[in-house]
Amino acid sequence: MTLADFPRHSLMFGPSPIHPLDRLTKHLGGARVWAKREDVSSGLAFGGNKVRKLEYLVPEALAQGADTLVSIGGVQSNHTRQVAAVAAHLGMKAVLVQEHWVNWPDAVNDRVGNILLSRVMGADVRLSPAGFGIGFKDSWKDAIAEVEASGGKPYAIPAGASDHRLGGLGFANWAHEVKAQEEQLGVFFDTIVVCSVTGSTHAGMIAGFADLLENFGDRRRRVLGIDASATFDETRDQVARIARRTADLIGVGRDLRDDEITVLEGWAGDEYGIPVESTDEAIYLTGRLEGVILDPVYEGKSMAGLIDLVSSGEIPRDSNVLYAHLGGQPAINAYSGRYH
Ligand SMILES: Cc1ncc(COP(=O)(O)O)c(C=O)c1O
Repeated sequence: MTLADFPRHSLMFGPSPIHPLDRLTKHLGGARVWAKREDVSSGLAFGGNKVRKLEYLVPEALAQGADTLVSIGGVQSNHTRQVAAVAAHLGMKAVLVQEHWVNWPDAVNDRVGNILLSRVMGADVRLSPAGFGIGFKDSWKDAIAEVEASGGKPYAIPAGASDHRLGGLGFANWAHEVKAQEEQLGVFFDTIVVCSVTGSTHAGMIAGFADLLENFGDRRRRVLGIDASATFDETRDQVARIARRTADLIGVGRDLRDDEITVLEGWAGDEYGIPVESTDEAIYLTGRLEGVILDPVYEGKSMAGLIDLVSSGEIPRDSNVLYAHLGGQPAINAYSGRYH
């Protein structure tokens, strides 16, 4: 099978836009920085990277006759908010297990931002005291069993839509989209920078670019994942596993090399969801120079990585670097005590 053989249910306006960040580029004094914007690519509840992943899961859910999407994340999960939006759009129900992933004391943490939006969209939101973890959880299995017991037909979507057979396809398609956009823009992105936590965004890109290299005459490029989980080994292992599984699924035709799977640590801080000084600097810098908003959980951390890698020259000065903006802005409302 090739990527084109998998059914895709369109949930976006079209390819996500790419544009240069010229004032940030000038400030950093190194490689030219561009952004590809998953945050403005869909009309579904402020979009984000999960909408793109779900394009490949929805056909299976519909084919199975499911009536309820069941998923899991933190209280301020962007993923569950996007599942709620897709369910509303398809006329399905959503059951969302929202765990206590972040030790963040903001008084309105469980009332604003993503969780507020999921409630507005009619999802059955269930708060759970369990802590951060990207693996399979009992609370999620219980929610699936409960839907079945009440006569519903659940379709189970794991955290971040990642550890799912089809979870890497959305961002494999992203890689193909980049190549088509490069031809229009007349530019080659030799370096991609992407945030990584549950792993299938980065993993899908790795598989997609390997596919382009082997089967479509593409040039080699670096896809740098910036860990934002603060459980680095688990995220790196998950990225490697999903990248290999996805590459196999879309017919790359060879095993991935270890040097194609690069997850970098150093910008996550000590804990998932807790911003550190470099996160805040990245958020303020990008907001003030470009009018582009980043969140403190994910994109603020990956942009902090990009800033260091570009300004130190680790990403060479003559590079074109593409920053994958994966969305996530609603969560900043739960950090009112920090950004004011
Ligand atoms: C805004 C945002 N950026 C980055 C990520 C990380 O993507 P992944 O979980 O596929 O590694 C997520 C989700 O976890 C997210 O919501």
